This record gives sequence, C-alpha cells and structure tokens, in this order.
Amino acid sequence: MDFSTKLNNFVAQTEQALDKLLPPADTRPARIHEAMRYSLQAGGKRLRPALVLAAAELFPGNNQSDPLPAAVAIECVHTYSLIHDDLPCMDNDDLRRGRPTCHKQFDEATALLAGDALLTYAFEILSCNYPADLSLGLVRELATAAGSRELIGGQMEDLLAEKCTTVTADQLNFIHHKKTAAMIEAALAMGGWIGQGRPSAEPLNRLHTFGRHLGLAFQIVDDILDATADSATLGKTAGKDAKANKATFVKLYGIDGARDRAQKHTEAALLELVKLPGDTTFLRQLVDAMLKRKN
Ligand code: IPE
Ligand code: IPE
Ligand code: MG
Ligand code: MG
Ligand code: MG
Repeated sequence: MDFSTKLNNFVAQTEQALDKLLPPADTRPARIHEAMRYSLQAGGKRLRPALVLAAAELFPGNNQSDPLPAAVAIECVHTYSLIHDDLPCMDNDDLRRGRPTCHKQFDEATALLAGDALLTYAFEILSCNYPADLSLGLVRELATAAGSRELIGGQMEDLLAEKCTTVTADQLNFIHHKKTAAMIEAALAMGGWIGQGRPSAEPLNRLHTFGRHLGLAFQIVDDILDATADSATLGKTAGKDAKANKATFVKLYGIDGARDRAQKHTEAALLELVKLPGDTTFLRQLVDAMLKRKN
C-alpha cells in the first residue's frame, strides 16, 4: 500500500472512531456536545492518531488491543489544546481548521467548557476501552504529556516569552519541546504500549526520542508556515507570530536558519527510526511528509 493510501486509511478510521466514541451531538446539554464535535470534526491532519496507529503496527501479532480508542483520546486532548490556544486570553485567533474558532462560533465560556470536556473525556475513553494495566500505562503517558511540566508548561512559557525583548535558544527549545513534541512523543509511546501489550523500556524510550525530533521539526515547520504561507492554505491566520512577538525559530534564526534546524531534527528522527523494530517504512515517509507539508 502506498504512503498516501495508508495515511488516508488511518485518517478515515480515526474519523469513524471519533464519531462513534464521542457523545452524540444531541446529548443534553446539546450546546456543549455540539461545540466538542464542531472543533474535533473540523478536519485537521490527524497526525497524532496516525502516529498511535503506526506505532502499534510496529509490533504485530501480540493479540493486540485496538489502538483506535487511544488515537481518539489523544486527538481529543490535542483539539482541547487548540481550542484553548485560540482563546482571546491566549493567541486570540479567529480561524482554525478552516472554520471560525470555537469561541467565535459559540462563545468564550462554551469554548472553555468544550476544551475542558474534551480533555476529561480522553481519560474516560482510555479507562473504558483497555484492560486495567494497559489503561493505567496509557493514562500515565497522556496525563504526563498534557500536564504542567509538558504541554501546559510549554504553553505557559510561550505566553511569558511574548513579553521578552530577546529569546534564547534554551527558551525556544523548551517551549517547542514541551508545547508540541511532548504530545507527539506520547502518541508514539501509546501506540508502542498497545502494540507490545506491556511496557518494555527500550522501544518506548526510542519512540520518545524519535517523537521528540519529529515534534521539534513539526513545530519549526509550523513557525515557518506562519511566516510564509497564507491563511486560506493554513486554515488558520497566517503571520500572527511576529505580530504577537512569539518566540519562534524564524524569529531567532530567520527562515533559512529555521529550515536548517527542521532538516536537522528530521535527520535525527530518521536515525532513531532505524533502531525501532518492525516495518518503519510508513513512519519514515510520514516524517518526510511533515517536513514538506504546506499546512
Ligand atoms: C497545530 O497542530 C498546533 C501545533 C502543535 C503546531 P496541527 O498542525 O497538528 O493541527 P491540526 O490537528 O492539523 O489542525
Ligand atoms: C500551539 O502552538 C501548540 C498547542 C496548541 C499546544 P501554536 O500557537 O503555534 O499553534 P497554532 O499555530 O496556533 O496552531
Ligand atoms: Mg500558541
Ligand atoms: Mg496559536
Ligand atoms: Mg503556530
């Protein structure tokens, strides 16, 4: 199967599972369930679910649990982080995934609650769909990645850095690692847990290292696209980082310097990938596609 067919299959499976696992839109109170589905079902690349599914496939034949609920759970947490990231008190964005942001379509309170609800629901999904020991491992991976030392910590420093006149390489690496790479690492590690059916330190550590480089390259490309692409292509407002004085790789190193660094992390990710078991062809192609992406 070629790369785009396989990716499209992963995305289609994820969309179906999202629809099945989320409370129906008319569940009382309908407004919150409509808002959750509005943001979650607006498209998006579904990178993190694809990583869960691809990492699980590296370990075939182990009487595996279904990785789809975990793929849905991490997409719920990712979408919550986008809804809150777009709020006026954070990045104040009007456009997301090609649609008005959740707070524009509904209102701020509903967007806040829809984000909270997606975050919480992710853990309900994990606890309801896996055997107890696996469920505990998956909850731990996702909770750690989403918490104050990782995603939230990265978002906090991202906002604090807006007020700084200069930004250091250390600040920038912390922000990008925590706000973005941590969840990409978690997606891969969750797939690895499910694939193996049990924790086994070595492949999980390698999946984390691979994910860190992929995640850093991914966020550097996000910074480059913010500075170079148009809003229609991105499905979100272009050119906002410079206006908000965000700490980005483009700001510190310029477009070419940022491109070099994205390339460097891509190469480091690929070097780590060869140490993983199973057929890594799809993941190799995915890393390459994320470097070359246009949105
Ligand atoms: C956007 O993530 C926020 C970042 C971490 C850069 P994505 O670029 O994966 O957004 P979607 O899910 O495709 O909308
Ligand atoms: C956001 O980074 C990362 C998270 C949502 C955790 P950005 O603020 O750069 O993401 P976009 O560009 O709005 O998607
Ligand atoms: Mg932000
Ligand atoms: Mg933003
Ligand atoms: Mg951005």
